[in-house]
Amino acid sequence: MSKLNLDVMHDRRGTECVKWDFMNFVDSRVPKDAQPLWLSDMEFPIATNIQDALIHRIQQGFIGHSMPSNQYFEAVQGWYQRRFNWNIEKESIFYSPGTLPALGFAIRAFTKKGDGIIIQEPVFYPFAELIEGNDRKIINNQLINQNEQYSMNFDDLAEKVKNLHNTMMILCSPHNPVGRVWTTEEIRKVANLCRENNVLLFSDELHCDATRKNVIHHPTMTVTDYQNVITAVAPGKTFNVGGIPISQIIIRNEQLRKLWYHETRLKHYISFAPPLDIVLCETAYQTCETWVDEVMEYIEGNFDFLVQYLQEHLPLTKYKKPEGTFLAWIHLGAYGDSEKLFELMIKKHKVLIENGRVFGHGGTGYFRMTVACPRAFLKEGLDKIVAAVNDLQEMTN
Ligand SMILES: Cc1ncc(COP(=O)(O)O)c(C=O)c1O
Repeated sequence: MSKLNLDVMHDRRGTECVKWDFMNFVDSRVPKDAQPLWLSDMEFPIATNIQDALIHRIQQGFIGHSMPSNQYFEAVQGWYQRRFNWNIEKESIFYSPGTLPALGFAIRAFTKKGDGIIIQEPVFYPFAELIEGNDRKIINNQLINQNEQYSMNFDDLAEKVKNLHNTMMILCSPHNPVGRVWTTEEIRKVANLCRENNVLLFSDELHCDATRKNVIHHPTMTVTDYQNVITAVAPGKTFNVGGIPISQIIIRNEQLRKLWYHETRLKHYISFAPPLDIVLCETAYQTCETWVDEVMEYIEGNFDFLVQYLQEHLPLTKYKKPEGTFLAWIHLGAYGDSEKLFELMIKKHKVLIENGRVFGHGGTGYFRMTVACPRAFLKEGLDKIVAAVNDLQEMTN
C-alpha cells in the first residue's frame, strides 16, 4: 500500500465544518478568512477504505432504520483487543450518539441534582458545561503543573472523594488539553480512591490512539477491577471522523447497565443507530489501522518540528511535547497579556487557536493548538503567532 501524502492541504471551506466555516462560534471577532488551528479535527482526509465503504453503503439505495449487529461489536472488540490488549465483553458495549451526550446521560443516570462531580482542570471545557447544565456542581481537583510536567494532586483528590456529595469523577485519559497519558499507577490510585468512597468513575478515553512513540495508553478497565467505571471510546479522534456522532460506552457492572438502559432507552429512546455511522465504525476499526499509524507518525514529526520552532522563534514559551492527543498546550504568558495577544492573533494576524482560559483554572496564559495538519500549514500558523507576539511586545515596550 502506498504511503499517505499528508503534506497536501485540502480546501474544506464551504462544507459546513465547524473548524473552517464557523470560527465565529469560538469568538465573534474571528474573521472568515482566518487560519484555523483550533478544534481537535485533523486536516487529513479520512481513509479511502472508509470513503469506499460509505459510498458502497449509499449505493445499496436504502438508509432504513438500523441497529448495531455482531459485526459492529466484533469490530470494536477487535480494535481494543489488538491495540490495547483489552477484552471487552459484547454485553458491555453500548452505542451512544456521541461521547458528550453519553456524559450527559451518565450525569443524569448516576448522580442527582446538586451533587458534586470531580474534574481535573485545566480540562476539556464541555465537562464543566455539562455538569452545570445538569444542575450539578463542578468540583475541581486541580492538576499540579511543575515546569509543564502535569500530575494529579492525590491528597486533594482523597479529600474530595470523601465528601458524600461528590458522587462522580470524570477522568480525561489521555488528558485534553495538557496531553498527559496517565500511568497505570496513577489510574489505579484514582480508581482506588473512587472505590473506597463509592464515587462513580467516568473515563473519557477518546484520545487513546493519539499517543507518542513509546508511550502506552492504559484503558482504565485494564488497570482496575473497580466495577463502577464507565468508559467512553469512539472513532472520532482516531480516524478523524469527529463529525459522526457515534461512540462506544463500556459498562461492566450489571446494575449500572440497568440504570444506563433506563436513562438512554427508556427516557431518550436510544436503541437504533444511524446506518452510515455503523458502517463507518466497522470499516474504521477493521481496516484502517495503517492509516492511523501513518497519521500518528506524521503528527509526531509535527510535534518535533513545533518544539524546534518554539525554541528558535519564541524562546520564552513554556512548552513540553505531550505524551498524548494531537493538541499542543503552549504557555505564552511571558510575552504579555494573553487577552491582547489573542485579539492580535485573531483580528490582525488571522490565526485562530484556543485561549487557554476557557479550560478552567490553570488555563490563563496558555493556548491550545491542533498540530494534526500539513507541516507547512502549521508553520504558516506559527509565523502568524510570532507576528502577533512581536506586535504585542512593541505595543507594551
Ligand atoms: C476528551 C474529549 N471528550 C469528548 C469529546 C467530544 O466527543 P463527541 O464528539 O463524541 O461528543 C472530545 C472532542 O474534542 C474530547 O476531546
